[in-house]
Amino acid sequence: MIREYPGGKKDMAKTGILGGTFDPIHNGHIECAVKIKQEFGLDRVLLLPSGNPPHKFANPVTPGLLRLRLAEKAIEGIPGLSVCGIEVEKNGYTYAADTLAELKDTYPADDLYYIIGSDSAAGITNWKDADKLKDYCSFILVKRQGAEDYLEKAVMALSDIGAEFKICEDQFPKISSTEIRKKFLGGEIPGKELIPEKVAELVAKSGLYRGGQMSEEMIKEDLRSVLTPKRYIHSLGVADEAVRLAEKFGADQGKARLAGLLHDCAKSVSLSQLKFINMSEEDFSLCPNSGFSYRVLHGPLGAVVAKSRYGVTDSEVLSAIAKHTTGDREMSLLDRIVFIADYTEKNRSGDFFREVRRLTDEEGLVPAIAYACDETIKIILKRGEPIDVRTIYTRNMAIKELEALKQ
Ligand SMILES: [Fe+2]
Ligand SMILES: [Fe+2]
Repeated sequence: MIREYPGGKKDMAKTGILGGTFDPIHNGHIECAVKIKQEFGLDRVLLLPSGNPPHKFANPVTPGLLRLRLAEKAIEGIPGLSVCGIEVEKNGYTYAADTLAELKDTYPADDLYYIIGSDSAAGITNWKDADKLKDYCSFILVKRQGAEDYLEKAVMALSDIGAEFKICEDQFPKISSTEIRKKFLGGEIPGKELIPEKVAELVAKSGLYRGGQMSEEMIKEDLRSVLTPKRYIHSLGVADEAVRLAEKFGADQGKARLAGLLHDCAKSVSLSQLKFINMSEEDFSLCPNSGFSYRVLHGPLGAVVAKSRYGVTDSEVLSAIAKHTTGDREMSLLDRIVFIADYTEKNRSGDFFREVRRLTDEEGLVPAIAYACDETIKIILKRGEPIDVRTIYTRNMAIKELEALKQ
């Protein structure tokens, strides 16, 4: 969705586009947008917060929608500036060429000016569809303080892709988002010479940059942007179901909700992203019994992502996320609950899931686990895929416990 900005489709307008992570947006960004608008006679400037970068999947993040809201707060009352959510509202990877093509399509009468720092422009020939960029926009090249060497390279790179460009001679205040985040982390509110007061207020209210575990609201916003809509609904269903089962079987409901919500958080991680995620030996030790097949990997990988991206430190929650794909030789009550809730959440339909649900409610977790494992093994055999040894361990553990109960 593109948030409307003044003018738009009917009138031809000179529109600047200023992209960035904006984590958080600060006065340097605003001043850059306002000055460039004046200096180049633009009618408006769109601030375009970037999507979540795929190579930083296992890093702490600020959900895109929250960065968008901060940007909206920052430009309140400033004429000619607006915010565009086209990238943060998209799932998966975003590329400048696709975004610009979409903007050109939506506002065909506009002249688009992509505002770009010399350091980024120096590498533009490597961007996806770099040679098409000139069809959508021209460029305003901004000299980065402390990165003067890049200017020459940037000029060459823009010429190489056949782009039209102008150079902005202004220097903008060198404010760093990293420094601002550090201030918040240290309990300090950055002054209004660094960020607009309204932005500081929203950051403080949302608990952003404080370190520690992300709030449930923020986790949900982030999951909504990284998972498919179906997977997101399923995750909410597993969280609710895990709470119901925790209440029924006497486990911690808060931990059950968190583990349920995050159990599939690594589901969208692609093989190409794996190289950016460092799994330590401790992470692997969460499931020590076998190697990984990609289908089950999102369990242990999910625990890594929950820890690094969302700041979860509770070892019981991490264990339940890690073990949800296969189970394991030993499973805590919480592990069992999340394992089963994945089958019994309300959005699952079909005879198999119905039977797991019936067993859980009428006979308990262990018979449900035994049945779920048996059926899963049959399904995998039918597919001709290898069975993860932990699925067999889990089945055997459940069968043994059932036999012990009978005696
Ligand atoms: Fe899963
Ligand atoms: Fe799941």
